[in-house]
This record gives sequence, C-alpha cells and structure tokens, in this order.
Amino acid sequence: MNYQLLLSKTKEKLNNEPSGHDFLHALRVLSNVDLILTNENVDIDVIKTSAIVHDLIDDKLDDTFKMSENEMDQLLHDCGLLPNQIKHVQTIIRSISYRKHQTLDSLEAKIVQDADRLDALGAIGIARTFAYGGAHNRQIVNEHNVDTGVGHFYDKLFKLKDLMNTKSGIIEAEKRTKFMHEYINELQRETNISDFRRTK
Ligand code: NI
Repeated sequence: MNYQLLLSKTKEKLNNEPSGHDFLHALRVLSNVDLILTNENVDIDVIKTSAIVHDLIDDKLDDTFKMSENEMDQLLHDCGLLPNQIKHVQTIIRSISYRKHQTLDSLEAKIVQDADRLDALGAIGIARTFAYGGAHNRQIVNEHNVDTGVGHFYDKLFKLKDLMNTKSGIIEAEKRTKFMHEYINELQRETNISDFRRTK
C-alpha cells in the first residue's frame, strides 16, 4: 500500500481548501483512527485510506478541490488497493456523511465516521465551525441564531456525542463536547445574548 502517493495526491487537491476540509483535516481524521482502533479484526488499509480521502468526492467541496469518482478509483488502484477494497472505501465515504443519515454496515465505516466526527468537536471543531461559516457567509451569532456558527453547535455538534459508534469514540467525544459547552457559556456571557438555543 503506497500511502506516500495517496497522501501527496490528496494534499495536491485539498491543501488550500478554505472551509475546514483541508488536507490537515484529513490527517487529523487519520490520527483519530489510532485513538479509536482497538484489536478488532478490521481491514486497516481500508480504514486509513477512507480516513485520508473521505472528503475528496463530497459535493460540499468546491469543484477546484474535488476529485471525480473515476479519478479516485484510479488513484486507489495506483496505491495498491484491491478491487474489493476500493469498493469498500467508496461505500464508506459515500455513507458516513451526517446529512445522509445512513446505517453503516461495516465496522470499518463506523470507525472512520467516528474519526471524522471527532474533528468536528472540541477546540478544533469550534475553529472549523467558524471557518466553515466564514466560507459560507454565515454570521458568528445573532439574536435568532438561525444558520449561524453558534446555531450549528445546537443543530448538529452537540448531538454528535450520542451518535458515536465506538466506545473510545464516545469517551473522546464527551470530553470534547464538555469543552465546547464551556466555550459556549463563556461566549454567551461575553455577548450578552440571553438564549443561544433560540431558533426560528
Ligand atoms: Ni471530514
């Protein structure tokens, strides 16, 4: 398995991605995998590859940073993955997105999803939320909190810890979520907005 090629091609595409799905996000998801992995019998190359490329064909990416499915297939092949592993990677990265609400049918998929979700939480999650907001012309916070950075904490981020698949994923997600609550409390104190939760 040629990880050097996989990493360099992914870096080429995602290096300057501005909305929080850049190459370093891919690397953090890859290292979160180590945090989650125990001794289960899993295909580690499928997990690591999926962690690295998981955002590359996602519609949320601007075309400049996106890879086509064919390009991705070719790259995975060039890196030494077998056809059934390529298929598994494609299934994983198409199914783990929060928006799709899909039931995951492999432990590999569950581990990659947890690894990706952890990067939406904690200090890095806070930074990514506001970077994404900035890239999509969202305000930080307002009195209604509809479609703002802070609104996103309530719409999605605070829910993630209860949606984690793995034991070590849950433990780390709880730690990161606790920190985010502390951050939100302080932000509320500083901004004097009485109810952050109010939407609509
Ligand atoms: Ni991601």
